[in-house]
Amino acid sequence: SDRLRHADFMSQLPSGAGGIPRLNAAILGKPLSSEEDDLVLPSADFSAQALISSPQQYQEMYKRSIEDPAGFWSEIASSEFYWKEKWDPEVYSENLDVRKGPIKIEWFKGATTNICYNALDRTVEAGNGDKVAIYWEGNDLGQDGKLTYSELLSKVCQLSNYLKHVGVKKGDAVVIYLPMLMELPIAMLACARIGAVHSVVFAGFSAESLAQRIVDCKPKVVITCNAVRRGSKVIHLKDIVDNALVESEKNGVSVGLCLTFENQSAMKRDATKWKDGRDIWWQDVVPEYPTECEVEWVNSEDPLFLLYTSGSTGKPKGVMHTTGGYMVYTATTFKYAFDYKPSDVYWCSADCGWITGHSYVTYGPLLNGASVVVFEGAPNYPDSGRCWDIVDKFNVTIFYTAPTLIRSLMRDGNEYVTRYSRKSLRVLGSVGEPINPSAWRWFYNVIGDSRCPISDTWWQTETGGFMITPIPGAWPLKPGSATFPFFGVQPVIVDEKGNELEGECSGSLCIKKSWPGAFRTLYGDHERYETTYFKPFAGYYFSGDGCRRDKDGYHWLTGRVDDVINVSGHRIGTAEVESALVSHPQCAEAAVVGVEHEVKGQGIYAFVTLVEGVPYSEELRKSLILTVRSQIGAFAAPDKIHWAPGLPKTRSGKIMRRILRKIAARQLDELGDISTLAEPSVVEQLISLSDS
Ligand code: WTA
Repeated sequence: SDRLRHADFMSQLPSGAGGIPRLNAAILGKPLSSEEDDLVLPSADFSAQALISSPQQYQEMYKRSIEDPAGFWSEIASSEFYWKEKWDPEVYSENLDVRKGPIKIEWFKGATTNICYNALDRTVEAGNGDKVAIYWEGNDLGQDGKLTYSELLSKVCQLSNYLKHVGVKKGDAVVIYLPMLMELPIAMLACARIGAVHSVVFAGFSAESLAQRIVDCKPKVVITCNAVRRGSKVIHLKDIVDNALVESEKNGVSVGLCLTFENQSAMKRDATKWKDGRDIWWQDVVPEYPTECEVEWVNSEDPLFLLYTSGSTGKPKGVMHTTGGYMVYTATTFKYAFDYKPSDVYWCSADCGWITGHSYVTYGPLLNGASVVVFEGAPNYPDSGRCWDIVDKFNVTIFYTAPTLIRSLMRDGNEYVTRYSRKSLRVLGSVGEPINPSAWRWFYNVIGDSRCPISDTWWQTETGGFMITPIPGAWPLKPGSATFPFFGVQPVIVDEKGNELEGECSGSLCIKKSWPGAFRTLYGDHERYETTYFKPFAGYYFSGDGCRRDKDGYHWLTGRVDDVINVSGHRIGTAEVESALVSHPQCAEAAVVGVEHEVKGQGIYAFVTLVEGVPYSEELRKSLILTVRSQIGAFAAPDKIHWAPGLPKTRSGKIMRRILRKIAARQLDELGDISTLAEPSVVEQLISLSDS
C-alpha cells in the first residue's frame, strides 16, 4: 500500500520551474541507488489530518503565492491578524536590484498594528486566556513554572509600564541579556508592546561582544539577571554586563539603567555586585506596576528588533526586522511547516538569543496561540535523557532542534531515549545546518519511533522565517533534504556568473523577489546590506549558502560558500575569530577555517603564526583559546590550533583559504594548484606541522 500511496504522491507532484517539485515516477520500484532516492512517506493517518495533505494542495497555494503575492498575503494578513489601520492598496513594494537604486522592501505599508497585541491580547480576548502560553523548565529537575496567556499578558504589561515610566519610548533600543527564563520572552514582548526595539544578545557572548552591540545600538536600558546555572556551573551574568557597560562607556555610550532579575536558584541578591543609581532589581519595581498597559500602535514598517549576526568581516551585523511582514510571516510559516493544531504543545530547544528563538520560541508560536515550552537548562543535564524527560512531562507534540544536538545524543546511545515514552510527539524539526542522512534517520527512527515527519527548515537570521521547508503530510521526505520552498519563496540556484540554473543543478542559493519576513537593512549600514546581499548577483538576494537541486526538484543545502561557519548550529564569522586571535600580543597572524566535526557539524580550525622569536607551547595554545573565549564567547573557541610558520598567500598577499581547508581536512591529495603561491614551500611546512 505504501507503493500505491507513493505512486499517488508522485502522480500529483507537478512539473515546473522555480523550485516546484518535478518528481520522477520512475523512482518507483528502483533499488535505492543514492540518497536522492531515499524517500520517507508521511503516514496515511498523518496526511489525513494535516493542514496541507497533498502535493496538489501545496501546489495550488504555492502557485497562487507566486502569481498573486499581494492577494495571497493580504488574505492571510486580514483574516488572521488585527490591524488598527489597514495598509495602502499596494500590499508590498520592493526594489531588489542595486542597479535600479537603493534596495527597499516594504510590506503592508501604511498599516498599523502591534505584534504583542496580536500574540497575547487577541488570544485572551478570544476567550483562551486560561490556556498555557509558557511551560517553563529550569536547569534542575523539578524546577518549573507556567504562565497562562492572561498571566503572561499581565506580566508583559507590568514590564511595559515600567519601561515607559523610566522613559523608554517608541523607537528606543533595549538590550536584553538573559538566559532562557520566562522573563526573556516577557522582556521581548514588553518592548514590542510599547514600540521599543529589542536587541537580544545571546547570554553566552562575552562582555566584549556585548559591549560591541551596546555601542552599536545605544540602548536606553539593559535587562539582565544576576546569574544562571548551566548544568552544574554557575555563571555570573551580571558581572559580564558590568564589564560590558564599563567598556561601552569607554567608547562613548553610557547606559543609565540596568534592570536585573534576581535568579534566586542561581544566586542570591546579596552576593551580586551592585552599582547604586544604575542597577535596579526587577522584582523590586516591575510587580508594582499595573497589569494593563495600552498598546502602542506602530507602523508595519517600524522596527521590531535588531539581532546581531556574523558575516564575513569582523564586525557583527545588526539585522533589522520590522513589524507587519515579520508578524505575518513567522506565524504562517510556523503553522504550516509544523502542521500546528491548537492542541499541540510545542518545544523549540533554541535560545532566544538567536533568530530561531525570536521567530520560533516567541513570536511564531505565540501568534498562533500555542503552548510553548521554554527550557533553561542543558540537554545533557543531569543526563542525556533530559530532553525526553521534558517531552513526556509536558506531552510535547512538536519538537524542534538542531542537528548538533541530535548527533551528540545519538553518540550517547539509545538507552537514554527508549527509557521514555515520547508517544506524544507527532512532528519533529531541524535547523541550523545541513542534517546528515544518518542523524536524520536516527532522529526519525529512534526519537520519533518512525512515526513523526521531520521538517528540516532552511532559513537565516536575515530571512526572518522558514524559506525552504517540508510541509509534513504533503509529500515524501528525503533524509537530508530541506525539500521545497515555502509559500511566496522563489529559490534560484545560480552559477558564478549569476545565471539561473535549471533542472538538476548546483550552485549558489539566491532568492528572487521579496517575502514578508525579509530583513530590511543592517542597522546603520544600508550600504553594507546592499553590498553583501544584493550586489553579488544583481536582482537577487544572495544567501551565502550553496545548494543542489536534484532530479525531483528537492533542495539539498551544502553549507556556506562564504567565510561563515556553522558550529553546533551557531553562526560564526571566521574573521571574528581571527581578529580575536590576532589581538593576542604573541599572535602575528591567524587564518581560521571550518573543518568537518562529528558532533558540531563544523569545528573551528585556526592556523596561527606567532610573533618572531616566540616559541610554541601548550600554555600559549591555551592562552590563545582563552582570548577567543573572552572576546567572543565559549562557543567560538577553536577546536584546533595549527602552528603556522607561514601562511599560503598569493603574490598579492591574499591568504588562500582553499588550501588551508584542504590541509585542515587532511585532504592532501586535493590541494590543487599551488604554483600561484608567493612561497609554495609553506604548504609542505604546514603539512609537516599538522600533528603538532
Ligand atoms: C545554516 C539560523 C542547512 C545555513 C536559522 C544558513 C542550514 C545559516 C539550515 C543561517 C538547514 C540553517 N539546512 N543549513 N535546515 N538552517 N542553516 O542566521 O548555512 O543563525 O545560511 O539562522 O545556517 O544561520 P542563522
